[in-house]
Amino acid sequence: MDLHQLRERIAQIESEVAASLTKAGSGDAVRGLDNRVLGKEGSLSALITSIKEYPPDQRGQVGKLVNEAKARVKASFEARLAELRAADAQAEASAAGAFDATLPGVAAPMGAVHPVTAVQWEVERLFERLGFTLEAGPEMESEYNNFEALNIPASHPARDMQDTFWLTNGMVLRTHTSPVQHRSMKKFGPPLRVIAPGRCFRYETIDASHENTFHQIEGLLIDRDIGLPHLIALAKMLLTEVMQREVELRVRPGYFPFVEPGLEIDMNCRICGGKGCPTCKNSGWVEVLPAGMVHPNVLRAGSIDPDEWSGFAFGLGLTRLAMMKYGIRDIRVLNSGDLRATVSPVRLGGPIVWEKSA
Ligand code: DAH
Repeated sequence: MDLHQLRERIAQIESEVAASLTKAGSGDAVRGLDNRVLGKEGSLSALITSIKEYPPDQRGQVGKLVNEAKARVKASFEARLAELRAADAQAEASAAGAFDATLPGVAAPMGAVHPVTAVQWEVERLFERLGFTLEAGPEMESEYNNFEALNIPASHPARDMQDTFWLTNGMVLRTHTSPVQHRSMKKFGPPLRVIAPGRCFRYETIDASHENTFHQIEGLLIDRDIGLPHLIALAKMLLTEVMQREVELRVRPGYFPFVEPGLEIDMNCRICGGKGCPTCKNSGWVEVLPAGMVHPNVLRAGSIDPDEWSGFAFGLGLTRLAMMKYGIRDIRVLNSGDLRATVSPVRLGGPIVWEKSA
């Protein structure tokens, strides 16, 4: 098995587990499944025993992939057990026909997944399949990487597009994940395919659709003869996969100093079905994927020759996409620590409809 096949196998095991878990109607059934998957000879554990068959430089990654999958699966078992316990307790109480105030409370399921994390994992899996490398940049960035290297010099009016938190040491809290574009060009050189998920910050007035802390996923592909059709096809695939339904796209020109031409790729609003609501500012469309062809100045700053190489970049609004996917209307709940805004691993992939209570 090569790494690609390993990933496929892990994904297959995880989806089988998810399907069996929803059917598992008792604690014993869940424990039996646990044993078949995570036990000594379980299907996931077996993947670790084959680690010796990989070249030494791949073993670390094999271990990481399998162990991460084990952790996710373990969490889903625990969540299901907690659900079953809660259901049992409820059934007992109603069978007794009485409310016993001396019974201990039913614990909330632990270890649920934040909606933004859930969508991030899905996007990461998709791009892994497409051969992209996963990169992370620092949240505290230099002014050069956050702006200058992206064709936004100090005097440029485009600096006003992003309200920045400046730190006393002259650095900034990154306003977007785009600085990882520059870091990756320097690190890998062309050709390259990278995605970079991460937390970003802006000095914003907070309301239902603006937060001072939010998540994006940057994407960058540089190769020979790359054009807009590649970008648009990828956008369609990405949004369709995450939303698990055919999405309609609207592509408009957009201005970002680090791309030329620049695009706004919008998706039809799932909250109102396109009729118009506060989330989509009554337009029926939501901006989720600003993108474009990498500007020659950005390539040059990354020591890449624009006469030889071209590429596209996008800045997926991960927070907004998670809100669309799970029908969350108010961005503020996402940083609130309110456990109702979490996705039980058992329900990963299925929509939860949830609104901030008044
Ligand atoms: N960094 C931009 C922002 O946060 C989003 C963006 C636009 C990223 C176009 C890109 C791009 O990579 O090509 O406003």
